[in-house]
Amino acid sequence: MLMEPSQLPRVSLERMNKVHEEEINILNRLHQSIVSQADLEEIDRNFREFLEDVWNHFRSEQEMMEQFNFFAFPMHKGEHDIILGQLENLKKKWEKEQNPELIKAYIEKEFLPWLMNHIQTMDTITAHFLSHFIRD
Ligand SMILES: [Fe+2]
Ligand SMILES: [Fe+2]
Repeated sequence: MLMEPSQLPRVSLERMNKVHEEEINILNRLHQSIVSQADLEEIDRNFREFLEDVWNHFRSEQEMMEQFNFFAFPMHKGEHDIILGQLENLKKKWEKEQNPELIKAYIEKEFLPWLMNHIQTMDTITAHFLSHFIRD
């Protein structure tokens, strides 16, 4: 397993924590299918599920930030956009080379460390701000 969902840093909005936990579950499935050398179709399915989940994750945060005029919205969205750009490149490489190690290396060395840092900084500040307006 890449990471236990319980090891995630928690923010003050439960709905954001739920999204993060579900993302780790999806990431674990993807990682497991690569480590256990599942067939390429299964890895591809898990990879697409992961991409869609990240997209929904970022969009849900951005919608809340826009709705409540969060002061650091452009900065927070900027961090999301960098990752979406990296994932778009990774998807293109994956489609061309079909090499699962590309995905494995990216999630271990780039995505997961980024996510931990992003939750502890941007998401924490954002959740704190939003928790004054949203009860969950
Ligand atoms: Fe987040
Ligand atoms: Fe975020």
